[in-house]
Amino acid sequence: MDRRIVIVGFMGSGKTTVAKALAARLGCGLADLDAIVAAQQNMSVPELINERGESSFRDAETAALQLILDRQTPRIIALGGGAWTLERNRELINKHGCLAVWLDAPYDLCWQRITDHPSPRPLALDETSARELYRERHPLYALANIRIAVTDNTSADDLAAKAAEAIARHTIS
Ligand code: S3P
Repeated sequence: MDRRIVIVGFMGSGKTTVAKALAARLGCGLADLDAIVAAQQNMSVPELINERGESSFRDAETAALQLILDRQTPRIIALGGGAWTLERNRELINKHGCLAVWLDAPYDLCWQRITDHPSPRPLALDETSARELYRERHPLYALANIRIAVTDNTSADDLAAKAAEAIARHTIS
């Protein structure tokens, strides 16, 4: 079976939209980890973080990741922005032989999308702390197998095409 792919990157980097475009291009299934956590916990991710705390959300996130990785499908999994930054999650992903694709978007673009987006991001409440979180996480995202540079004027389809090429090259080499 083709290697499974996890899409990682900061909030606002475009993980969900690019993952959808990539799944359409590769003709394979897609799961969104935040959506799975929300369905399992019967509340939205922001509610979960606000009402039970980040650490409780992280536990639910790891449990959901483990569950989805233990199955053989779908091929593509879009993670929430913090999932890849936890070593235990990276270990799980590597143990299951997945390829990690990092959408490396500049901070200003992420922040613009975070503020434009109607859904709340409890871990990016203000510009200064979000910038600091971005700075802290950047070296961890760089541990991914594949880096795709994101710019404001590249469409999700173009990014998916670049990711598909990079995945094919990575698989051959
Ligand atoms: C988080 C990112 C969110 C969501 C949660 C925590 C983070 O997902 O998982 O609010 O720690 O970066 P998106 O990256 O899809 O916004």
